[in-house]
Amino acid sequence: MTRYTEIPVLKNSGSSLPKVDFNQLEFGKYMSDHMLVARYADGRWQDAEIVPFGPIPMMPTILALHYGQSVFEGMKAFRMKDGKISIFRIRKHYERLQRTLHRMCMPDIPFELFEEGLKQLVKTDAQWVPDQEGSSLYIRPLVFATEERFGVKISDEYLLIIMSGPVPPFYPRPLRVKVEDRYSRAAKGGTGAAKCAGNYGGAFYASKLAKEEGFDQVLWTDLSPELRIEESGTMNVFFLIGGRLITPPLSETILEGVTRDSILEICKMEGIPVEERSITAGEITEAHASGTLTEAFGAGTAAVTAPICSIGIRGRIIDLPAYSESSLCNRLQKIMNAMKKGEQPDVFSWNTIVS
Ligand code: COI
Repeated sequence: MTRYTEIPVLKNSGSSLPKVDFNQLEFGKYMSDHMLVARYADGRWQDAEIVPFGPIPMMPTILALHYGQSVFEGMKAFRMKDGKISIFRIRKHYERLQRTLHRMCMPDIPFELFEEGLKQLVKTDAQWVPDQEGSSLYIRPLVFATEERFGVKISDEYLLIIMSGPVPPFYPRPLRVKVEDRYSRAAKGGTGAAKCAGNYGGAFYASKLAKEEGFDQVLWTDLSPELRIEESGTMNVFFLIGGRLITPPLSETILEGVTRDSILEICKMEGIPVEERSITAGEITEAHASGTLTEAFGAGTAAVTAPICSIGIRGRIIDLPAYSESSLCNRLQKIMNAMKKGEQPDVFSWNTIVS
């Protein structure tokens, strides 16, 4: 059995660190100096290695490019108040990755490879973990099919690459979202609950149209006459109505967000009433009219929490009360960040400390 406790590291001799201004970060613009690479061939994951971040050789025939066997995760590492580094909820991300791999007919990844790979990569690039307020090291595990042929088949070969880069908060200001009533992100029986590349590419068109109309993101629905809300852009979504926090229940058309789960756990701990239930565009409109809709926000790894300031529903715009320090969205974000940074006890054991 392959052990992953000491993954060999080929050091990058030309660090890009001096080129990065950590006070002027942009999401996804800068990559840390190293990446972890592991190959799947002959029915098993081969030894992993950490190498300088850079181009990878590939043939135009690799199956991922043609038939979309490509999946990923989005995770974060944080600089804690004592200077140590923590990686947030490795197990939860791993479980989702396993479900995604299964749905896309791709091989399981041993937990030890995933966990040790993350820890050793983050340790190698420890200097890349920002300590600026709201910033973090975003980690992107990516798995894709590398068998070379264009016959339509499940690939027998794959590559796992874990890369990372320092990121600022994802959305700089509250969002204007459009309830989508023409295009869908996911269909019943489809891959909506999997974090596969195609779900993101397939969502671009509706997002582009929404942006042309002046919105920041779409609020995906099931396209039923009631327009049941599913998620927003690349995040899960929450509505505060009459003091109760409502989020659509998980289903095969909704991605199980790790931040969504963290928010639900924190709400339980704080005694904040939560309902995981279906919510329609009509209920949002009525709650706004009666003054009970006080907040809406998205939640995701990249975004953490992202307040929504207005919602477009079939040509009508609903403006929400202004986001403030006392917003529930802000309170939840603060608690979650304090846990990640070790400023508040890690009562759920979500942090993996990188020594
Ligand atoms: C995340 O929130 O981590 C995501 O994966 C969404 C997006 C950046 C692709």
